[in-house]
Amino acid sequence: MTTHGQATSEAGFSERSLANRPDEDALPIGLLPPSFPSDYVAGAVVPYLLSGIFYGETPSVPMIDLALSKEEAVPIHFWGLLYEGWTPNAEKEGYSVFSQGYEKRGPHNERKRIYMSATTPDLIDTKYRGKIVHFLEQFLAQSHDGKPMMESYFQNYYDLYWDLHVGATGDAIPTEVRQYSSGFNAVLGFWFPNLDIVLQNYLQTRKARPALKKWLEARVQAIVDGKVPHADSTLVYYWMKNAGTGENFRRIDVLFECIHNFLALSQWGNMVYNVAAKLEPTQGDPNVQAWFTRTMTNGPDKSDGSPFTPLDRFVMELFRVISPNGASLSSLRRHNELMGSNYNAIATTHLPASMDPRHWKNPTEFDPDRYKIAPTSVDNDEARVTQMGLARCPFSKEAFHVKDGRKVELTNSAFGAVYSEIDGTPHPVVDTAGYAPFGFGYRRCPGEHLTVEFIKEYLRAVWKQKISFVKLDIKNPALVPVNPGTVLLDNIAFKRAK
Ligand code: HEM
Repeated sequence: MTTHGQATSEAGFSERSLANRPDEDALPIGLLPPSFPSDYVAGAVVPYLLSGIFYGETPSVPMIDLALSKEEAVPIHFWGLLYEGWTPNAEKEGYSVFSQGYEKRGPHNERKRIYMSATTPDLIDTKYRGKIVHFLEQFLAQSHDGKPMMESYFQNYYDLYWDLHVGATGDAIPTEVRQYSSGFNAVLGFWFPNLDIVLQNYLQTRKARPALKKWLEARVQAIVDGKVPHADSTLVYYWMKNAGTGENFRRIDVLFECIHNFLALSQWGNMVYNVAAKLEPTQGDPNVQAWFTRTMTNGPDKSDGSPFTPLDRFVMELFRVISPNGASLSSLRRHNELMGSNYNAIATTHLPASMDPRHWKNPTEFDPDRYKIAPTSVDNDEARVTQMGLARCPFSKEAFHVKDGRKVELTNSAFGAVYSEIDGTPHPVVDTAGYAPFGFGYRRCPGEHLTVEFIKEYLRAVWKQKISFVKLDIKNPALVPVNPGTVLLDNIAFKRAK
């Protein structure tokens, strides 16, 4: 055993954690300091160095072709955060809808529809809003006025995360679960597996994962058994009810989604910070600030004949211009390639699509009113695609009826964008390639409404409490990892008008 091996045991790592361990001679060696354990180097660093991500085309319609697949389309060095053996082992350890090809999701994107049964607007209104508002009260507490804001965000974020998933907050979240949560987030943000900070956080998550899984299993069982108070205010409750005994969202997949969702919800932190940056008076965007004042003064929730309220539209426009998720990642089938390259993926970038003059007359202008007339997932039906020159809808509109007692069905646009109909009322999303922050078509984000409501509540709190944002003149602001590949400088504070 080399010095790698010694470092491995020092870090408390199991030699067995690399499934089918190859001969020492077959492992990469001498590439990184000896403090980097060999299974980490082989499982995360080398695959990353051998991988490539290429930029794809900017879509003209809100649809990524099935040839660019979601199957295992996750940055290759993240697998060890999710799976014991450093590579995907979905059959045994759980699938996520996020990394599964369309053809494997069950009839008519069933896994996605089951996932989305837990994130529909009725549940946001009645079950999750209170949790979000409580989080915002803590995050924006007056005691934190004038201090770097992301510090307060992350003091409270993991409680919100686990509250939404399994109804746990405070002491009900074990130390190991907190260690896993913060380690996962740090790896996402700091990204490069050759960095010591990524290594340390990676080891922390892998060490904490068995305890996390055990806790999650017990927690999910308690929700099923009705032993968690207000269990019907958790995502897990609806996933379990609507998956039933089916193959397309097994209990192990529910557990896996609870962990995998760190990737999804990590983007809230990025958005919260960037909205503050736009509203900050000295270096922010005066046009956004003017729109904010106008929107909040003239009735943020008034109905004016559009499918979206003025505050919806303002938040959607913030998403279009900020685009906290940079790209939709797809895996490719190989045509020809020299051996050695491990994993190639293609990124369909969002900002270029949202800013494309093919899609908007005024793409660079901040204009929430554009969504008054933009096509929605309800508008994009068979007739619309025929008009566009297609012979038929690329995706079936088959409805999925939830089985949890609500009158809710999940259907989709011609391009596969899933949306809900609640008591007969559709809750669409804007369905044009020019609105890309939540992705395209069948891969469209099922957390979009929850996310928009989260930011709406944030803005309501800012407005109601007369909060303004201040750029801090500090020498060494803390580095705050948020979503994949993004580390923020914690140099904005909030404060209340006297
Ligand atoms: C700022 C917040 C968020 C942004 C910007 C965002 C953005 C996106 C984007 C762009 C995609 C498409 C990825 C692709 O096709 O490769 C996506 C997919 C997805 N998002 Fe989100 N998301 C956010 C929050 C959430 C939340 C809160 C949840 C869950 C509650 C969620 C769950 C998912 C899932 C499961 C998928 C995979 C969908 C599929 O492949 O069919 N996201 N998201």
